[in-house]
Amino acid sequence: MTGKPASHSEVIMTELVLPNDTNQLGNLLGGRLMHWVDIAAALAAQRHSGKVCVTASVDEISFHEPIKLGHVVHIHAVVTRAFRTSMEIQVEVEREDPLHGSRAHTSSAFLTFVAIDQYGKPLPAPPIIPETDIEKRRYEEAAIRREVRLKARKALEERGG
Ligand SMILES: CC(C)(COP(=O)(O)OP(=O)(O)OC[C@H]1O[C@@H](n2cnc3c(N)ncnc32)[C@H](O)[C@@H]1OP(=O)(O)O)[C@@H](O)C(=O)NCCC(=O)NCCS
Repeated sequence: MTGKPASHSEVIMTELVLPNDTNQLGNLLGGRLMHWVDIAAALAAQRHSGKVCVTASVDEISFHEPIKLGHVVHIHAVVTRAFRTSMEIQVEVEREDPLHGSRAHTSSAFLTFVAIDQYGKPLPAPPIIPETDIEKRRYEEAAIRREVRLKARKALEERGG
């Protein structure tokens, strides 16, 4: 299967935080952000594979800073590496105060997506061709994260979890 450059999968999603996206403090709901992160990652996986993709797992996601009503949220997603049928997607979130122009990084997450056919069966994903130094680093590190992920899953299954 022919590989594709990592940059081909890049997605930048921009959202404005509206009243319906916030909690009682006027901060963006964590669940709303997770929804946007999932959508951006799905778009990156689908752009790379050219297939419908489903979320297989989401690694830890942390929220370093609150995002306020009226702020702009920039969600950047890119496929770091494709394995057999699964792809790892890195998502970075930045908030922007549109009145002052200041920006701050607020969250990072790694998600695994799988390309599927019309019966829900996993399909092979094209390899990623990392080109820049940062893409090459992400590509190498993706194999380490996958090993940790699969080991943890296996250990928990063996305990009957
Ligand atoms: C994800 C899914 C397609 C995997 O199907 P499966 O029959 O278990 O297939 P496999 O065991 O062959 O796994 C396929 C790939 O997914 C990976 N995978 C499966 N579960 C995973 C998990 N929890 N975390 C990370 N990777 C996972 C496997 O390692 C494998 O990767 P590889 O082909 O690159 O080696 C299937 O479990 C599914 O449809 N899940 C529901 C998806 C969904 O509805 N998501 C939305 C959540 S509401």
